[in-house]
Amino acid sequence: MAQELWTAVDRYFNNRLAPEDSALRAALEASDAAALPPIQVSATHGKLLLLLARAMRARTVLEIGTLGGYSTIWLARALPPDGQLVTCELSPKHAEVARANLERAGLAARVDIRVGRAVDTLAQLIASGTAAFDLVFIDADKASYPDYLRAALRLSHPGTLIVADNVVRHGRVLEEHPSDADLRGIRNFMELLGATPGLLTTALQTVGEKGHDGLALALVTGAA
Ligand code: SAH
Ligand code: DHB
Ligand code: MG
Repeated sequence: MAQELWTAVDRYFNNRLAPEDSALRAALEASDAAALPPIQVSATHGKLLLLLARAMRARTVLEIGTLGGYSTIWLARALPPDGQLVTCELSPKHAEVARANLERAGLAARVDIRVGRAVDTLAQLIASGTAAFDLVFIDADKASYPDYLRAALRLSHPGTLIVADNVVRHGRVLEEHPSDADLRGIRNFMELLGATPGLLTTALQTVGEKGHDGLALALVTGAA
């Protein structure tokens, strides 16, 4: 019952405030046709990412977890024409679908898809002295979220916004599933987020077409 209501309200919001255009719809259709898992952000969450990036006038974005590039399209659209988005994806197949989707959306020139384990890609970005990103979206394997946060902090400047998806996971708690690496990763991520000086942090529970979940947000202030 509750899920039906959440889905209906999301549909209402989507229709009024975050309508999908042909590029977004085509991206979802191509992802579906390629049998990618339908775990992309909802349209309202995609639009939230765009809105946050636009509000902070982001010129560079780092995304960890590309899938078919649906969230990538929302984020890349927030950037100025000379903006740059680097997105990390383990699966060559997902990356291929994303490449075609971004091409179709007219955003390929702004997006650099790095195929491989995100921890390795992030280490390369750090080692090569890549300039700090304005916004970081963490959305790959949940077990590695603490590693992604540590890397994101090294690729941030005062003013960088870090957003992490899926921090509630349908209310499943580690105490009841002690061997679940995803839940442990999210728990350790939240502990690290709370313990790291120089961050302005919060987290939101969300309900909607994807069930009960949540987003964590951290603004890098640099102040201790
Ligand atoms: N951000 C996307 C959804 C990402 S789903 C959207 O909202 O549209 C998570 C993605 O992370 C999947 O495509 C998965 O293949 C990828 N992934 C899983 N483990 C990874 C790893 N170790 N390194 C990089 N990507 C990984
Ligand atoms: C799931 C949802 C996500 O948003 C994600 O990034 C990974 C997995 C899920 O519903 O399983
Ligand atoms: Mg997600």
